[in-house]
Amino acid sequence: MRLEGKVAVVTGGSRGIGRAVVLGLAREGADVAFTYLKGREAADEVARLVSAEGRRCMAVQADCRSADEMQGVARNILGSLGRVDILVNNAGVTRDRLLVMMSPEDWSDVIATNLTGLFNVTRAFLRQMIRQQGGRIINLSSTSGLMGLQGQTNYSASKAGVIGFTRALAKEVARFGITVNAVAPGAIETEMLQAVPPAQLEALKKMVPLGRFGKPEEVAEAVVFLASDAAAYITGHLLVVDGGAAMY
Ligand SMILES: NC(=O)c1ccc[n+]([C@@H]2O[C@H](COP(=O)([O-])OP(=O)(O)OC[C@H]3O[C@@H](n4cnc5c(N)ncnc54)[C@H](OP(=O)(O)O)[C@@H]3O)[C@@H](O)[C@H]2O)c1
Repeated sequence: MRLEGKVAVVTGGSRGIGRAVVLGLAREGADVAFTYLKGREAADEVARLVSAEGRRCMAVQADCRSADEMQGVARNILGSLGRVDILVNNAGVTRDRLLVMMSPEDWSDVIATNLTGLFNVTRAFLRQMIRQQGGRIINLSSTSGLMGLQGQTNYSASKAGVIGFTRALAKEVARFGITVNAVAPGAIETEMLQAVPPAQLEALKKMVPLGRFGKPEEVAEAVVFLASDAAAYITGHLLVVDGGAAMY
C-alpha cells in the first residue's frame, strides 16, 4: 500500500470523481476525511465503504464557498485525525450557458465554488502542512480550462484559474516540502456529464481519440499517483486524463 499512515482530505467526496478518489486513497492505506454539500446519504455510503477498508473516515457537510466554514472544518478534521498529508481540492460545479444568456449568479456560483473554494480550503489546511514540513496538494482542473468549451465561459475561466493557482502555490511552498499539482480530466462519466445535452455529448465523444468517456476511477488513479512517494519530484504539473482529447 502506497499511502499507509497518511491522512487525506478530499472536498466533494460523496459522488463522482471525489468518491472514487476517497475510495482509491483509502484502498492505498490512507485515513480519509471528506466534505460534501447536500448528499448526506451518498456521503454516509462512502464513509461506510472506507471504514470497511479498515481506515478512519470522517464525512463532513461543508460548503467550500465559505471561508469561515472551511476554517472550522479544518479545525474539526485536524482535531480528530491529527494531521493532513494529502489535500485533494475536488469539489466543483457547472452552470453551462452561452455567455449572452448567462446570469451573474451562473458566473459567481461557479467561480465561488471552483476557484474561491480552492482558496478557502487550501488556506485552511496549508499552515498544518507547513508545520509538518511536507504534504501533497492535488487540484481538479479540467481540459475545459485548457481548450475552452462553448457554453462554459464561467467554468473554463475557473478551471484555467485552478492551473495558475496550482503553479503559483507550487513555487511558494516547495521550500516546505509540499508539492502542488493539478489533474485535468476530459469528459468523465459522472452526474456532471449528465447535464450536457445529448447532441453535445456525441460531439464531445468524437473528439476523444480513445473513443470513449473516462471513468471516475481512471482520474482517481492519477490523483493517487500524485499523492504517492512515486511523485515526490513532481510539482506544478498538470496531468491530463482525457483519452487524448486535448492533444495538440
Ligand atoms: N465529470 C467530468 O467530466 C469532469 C471533467 C473535468 C473536470 N471535472 C472536475 O472534477 C471535479 C469532480 O467532478 P464530478 O464530475 O465528480 O462532479 P459531481 O459528480 O457533480 O460531484 C461534485 C461533488 O462536489 C460536491 N460539491 C459541490 N458543490 C460543493 C460546495 N459548494 N462545497 C462542497 N462540496 C461541493 C458535491 O457534493 P453534493 O453531492 O453533496 O452536492 C459532490 O460531492 C470537479 O472539480 C469538476 O469540475 C469533472
